Amino acid sequence: MSETPRKILVTSALPYANGPIHIGHLVEYIQTDIWVRYQKMRGNECWYVCADDAHGTPIMLRARAEGITPEELIARVSQEHQADFAGFGIAFDNYGSTHSDENRALASQIYLANREAGHISTRTIQRPYDPQENMFLPDRFIKGTCPKCGAEDQYGDNCEVCGATYSPSELKDPFSAVSGATPTQKDTEQYFFDLGHFEKSLKDWTRGGQLQAAIAAKLNEWFEGGLKDWEISRDAPYFGFEIPEAPNKFFYVWMDAPIGYMASFKQLCDKAGLDFDAWWAKDSDTELYHFIGKDIAYFHTLFWPAMLEGAGLRRPTKVFCHGFLTVDGAKMSKSRGTFIKARTYLDHLNPEALRYYFAAKLSDGIDDIDLNLEDFVQRVNSDLVGKVVNIASRCAGFIKKRFDGKLAAELSEPELFHTFVRAGDEIAALYEARAFGRAVREIMALADLANQYIDEQAPWVVAKQDGRDAELHAICSMGIELFRVLIGYLRPILPGITAQSEAFLQIEPLTWDKIAEPLGGHTVAKFKPLMTRIDSDQVSKMVEQSKDDLAAEPKATAKVAASGPLAKNPIGETIDFDAFAKVDLRVVRIAKAEHVQGADKLLRLTLDLGGETRNVFAGIKSAYNPEDLEGRLTVMVANLAPRKMKFGVSEGMVLAAGPGGKELFILNPDDGAQPGMKVK
Ligand code: 2FM
Ligand code: ZN
Repeated sequence: MSETPRKILVTSALPYANGPIHIGHLVEYIQTDIWVRYQKMRGNECWYVCADDAHGTPIMLRARAEGITPEELIARVSQEHQADFAGFGIAFDNYGSTHSDENRALASQIYLANREAGHISTRTIQRPYDPQENMFLPDRFIKGTCPKCGAEDQYGDNCEVCGATYSPSELKDPFSAVSGATPTQKDTEQYFFDLGHFEKSLKDWTRGGQLQAAIAAKLNEWFEGGLKDWEISRDAPYFGFEIPEAPNKFFYVWMDAPIGYMASFKQLCDKAGLDFDAWWAKDSDTELYHFIGKDIAYFHTLFWPAMLEGAGLRRPTKVFCHGFLTVDGAKMSKSRGTFIKARTYLDHLNPEALRYYFAAKLSDGIDDIDLNLEDFVQRVNSDLVGKVVNIASRCAGFIKKRFDGKLAAELSEPELFHTFVRAGDEIAALYEARAFGRAVREIMALADLANQYIDEQAPWVVAKQDGRDAELHAICSMGIELFRVLIGYLRPILPGITAQSEAFLQIEPLTWDKIAEPLGGHTVAKFKPLMTRIDSDQVSKMVEQSKDDLAAEPKATAKVAASGPLAKNPIGETIDFDAFAKVDLRVVRIAKAEHVQGADKLLRLTLDLGGETRNVFAGIKSAYNPEDLEGRLTVMVANLAPRKMKFGVSEGMVLAAGPGGKELFILNPDDGAQPGMKVK
């Protein structure tokens, strides 16, 4: 390419390491991946990095609930996330973790530089405290009754029933979601980042075209409301990095998360021999883009550029926000089966289909995008199978059988070919501007032209008539030439179909410039089907499995959600009868109960199901001595998938209720119950 290649670093938001990737996340990763693939096709030096966001209280508590260390949890989840991303063709150049040596060093460096420059201060504040667990509680671990509408069991910052936002201190009957205890207020000294110091430069930066109009408008509101100090520390126990020279104080997860972008890139630089400092220097000639959801714009457009500036580093070139995903016009719902995990999707459907559908819906704006499941099936079948793949499948067989795989040397319809090539600049501009939906429309209009050409020429008729071989060759070669151009244009969106097409065409991976060069006289391989039609049955099965996923889901606050007096822990999300019916409850006899070395809360139980024994770890140590349990009857969930824990595999779960601590009660069937009996 003639222009000087740009140097571009691109990130997507770092997913939390305590939950699976779902299709809502995928909007962003697919959007970013398409943009990155486009940049690479243009010949730009473009790097795409991401990482797991591994710190914070929810991750600490999730690990505790599973009886494993946070390190074990984040290692497992990282593998799962990376496998899910790979399944969707998301091609990171590096995938790291915020819990890495690189991130620890960079977080320290950025913090210390800001401290040195006078942007960090401390003061004592009051924070909600769980007196039973001896820990400060983040807002989302305080629940209670909504002060506005009276809905029970609402989180500390907003009500899911009436949508009100409030502070946890306004909740009625608040309780800790960790232990069920009533939170107290406790003094604690915390560290603050003085965002107000950056007001002027942030205003200049945000008004310099770095942001979408809607986000810039939001920022103006925030400026008008005044920039508040940002609390960047948390007290132990906390899973994160200890703040330098501040024992027992940890960086708040949102402090070191964006630094995780840099840390992941640092790992890449070390592998690929890139000059990390040159990319992050204040006067760097490189470009830096963050793709994020609109909900985390505050962190990325205020805190993050301010922290970078305070540390004497470059700021992002642009921050690109996108909207949320709805499914069939509504928020993703676990009970409706539309909260679809990446893995569940992959179990049933072709990842390229979702990439295509999202691309067709994406724009450069922040509007929500809807996955309409019926439209999804229809559109993918009609566009990809019916239009694009069809072009090749209608022509390739003749080329192989009748012409030994060799294409005609000349284009029979050069004008048509040039129409395709001329569209390239417009399509490129649309990719660059993230107007993928419009790019898809342009490309499909070309696919319509190609199909129209083949329909008119009817090679299947020509093939049957003697003496028309040259014509047949010309028509089918033309079809394949047009197909190649379309595949080139779709390449950023459909890496899998493109790779298969490139293998069929026997060509090198397409670059943008190469698209304009016809193949003329080139030999292609035998054509294999590139994609099959989606059946709406596959979609139904995916939705059904998503409902099952919900039933099988462990909860970080499981102990609490399943315990506590009703007044304090009202019933949470309901499940339908079918989900309940799947739970296999059995009477069991506790044959053996023992302490587990190194476990604070767990007992190891050997359960007799009347002919079969199971090993189960139960978090009931605070309430029972093992010797008091042996011989007792209780009830277990017998069909819970075995779970690998730090201390071994747990093959089920015993049922217990209570607020926790000493007040935790296992279920106690009456005499006469026999081990193995199913609970009706
Ligand atoms: O909102 C989230 O899911 C965060 N884990 C995103 C972090 S993005 C970046 F700042 F690290
Ligand atoms: Zn409410």
